[in-house]
Amino acid sequence: YVIGIDLGTSSVKTILVNQRGEVCAEVSKNYPLIQMKSGYSEQDPEEWVGQTVSALSELLSLSRVNPADIEGISYSGQMHGLVLLDDHHQVLRPAILWNDTRTTAQCTAIAEALGEDLLRITKNRPLEGFTLPKILWVKEHEPEIFKKARVFLLPKDYLRFRMTGVICSDFSDAAGTLLLDVAERKWSAEICRQLGIPPEICPPLVESHEFVGTLLPEIAQLTGLRRGTNVFAGGADNACGAVGAGILSPGITLCSIGTSGVILSHEDQKERDFKGKVHFFNHAKAGSFYAMGVTLSAGYSLSWFKETFFQNETFEGLLQGVNEVPPGSGGLLFAPYLFGERTPHADSAIRGSFIGVDAAHRKENFVRAVMEGITFSLHETIRIFRSEGKAIDRIISIGGGAKNQCWLQMQADIFGAEVIKLESEQGPALGAAMLAAFGCGWFASLEECAEQFIRPSSAFYPQSEAVKKYQALFEIYQEIYAKTKGICH
Ligand code: XUL
Repeated sequence: YVIGIDLGTSSVKTILVNQRGEVCAEVSKNYPLIQMKSGYSEQDPEEWVGQTVSALSELLSLSRVNPADIEGISYSGQMHGLVLLDDHHQVLRPAILWNDTRTTAQCTAIAEALGEDLLRITKNRPLEGFTLPKILWVKEHEPEIFKKARVFLLPKDYLRFRMTGVICSDFSDAAGTLLLDVAERKWSAEICRQLGIPPEICPPLVESHEFVGTLLPEIAQLTGLRRGTNVFAGGADNACGAVGAGILSPGITLCSIGTSGVILSHEDQKERDFKGKVHFFNHAKAGSFYAMGVTLSAGYSLSWFKETFFQNETFEGLLQGVNEVPPGSGGLLFAPYLFGERTPHADSAIRGSFIGVDAAHRKENFVRAVMEGITFSLHETIRIFRSEGKAIDRIISIGGGAKNQCWLQMQADIFGAEVIKLESEQGPALGAAMLAAFGCGWFASLEECAEQFIRPSSAFYPQSEAVKKYQALFEIYQEIYAKTKGICH
């Protein structure tokens, strides 16, 4: 067996997987977000460790496997979060997370200091969510803490450190810091120098499937795992989500609708240049890359709608009747910018809207409009990919968006591509388990592992009437941003 740990934003998910890729047990534990001020989003790293330990110990007692049969553990983690450690490897302040937007001024400073060099080196543009602006924020606002910082880690790197005592990061997570030379796969001395960041605070880098150390005795004791169990580095959640859905070669694209939504495609050329219109990061498959666009409030828009207007409904109840509403939701359009938008606008100030509200509209129209709005937003990334010459014909859909037939058909119609649902889908946690399985030497490659672990179950094809309707609506959708910006800025 192997264990995959996905350290998410609201919970940690642990799965136990056998050599056939079957998930034998699964335990998740939640932890809170600390939101001291508007735009702030922090977490206590100690909570990650405590909840992971408790999830692992429950996983073991639930599955009743012999700990000696568990060969490896690996990780997937929420990206970009900043954990700062002092000389004694003590946490200096709460972790600042990817969805914290306090760093607009630092992003401007980075852009001014580095100009186009930033894009050349990191392949990405400065965004509030990334790690580098957070480091600069601490340097500026908490100089005493910054002075004490000896190393920074990303969330899952800190968890791994606490489980093994080894400090390191992997290329896929390091890529989301804005400090990595993505093509050359090394920390950028140039960026550190320009922004006054001591290069020593950057952790050593390894591949995602690489062995980093063994489980510490105290963690073994707390969880029931065997001391000395092999631990492999793991990767960023989006990279692991891609591994777990088999996105390991060009030609298939991933659509993942979770709290945020992602359109992601595998890239094998380090020279590939999307000019910063989408993210370009190192993949968890050694030596390869992926391009990705992000919708900040994807599944979140639907939960927001439910929590605000239909608290007592289940999600199934909420989605009932949506299939009877024709494409276009009876003239209702929704833009999902509830807390700003990443791709294509990179604007943390823009806010969402419902347009075309009719007195005759019912709950079903609104729910369908929210689903369509989320999908339109993701389609903006597909449009960017296509305009850069990528063929997007087959899309694997995972997450909340793959749980509903109507939404899967909607994706096929809006994206104008075949949309595939997987037989069983565990998201980034499965990608983490696959990295451990490959790291343990169960397979000669991650592709071989994917063949064994991942099976498609059904396919959805674009239907011409709906495609036409959506194409016309998408034109209007695309104008919403510019037309509503004035209200929000
Ligand atoms: C990616 C991003 C989010 C987090 C969520 O750039 O900010 O998808 O990785 O954990």
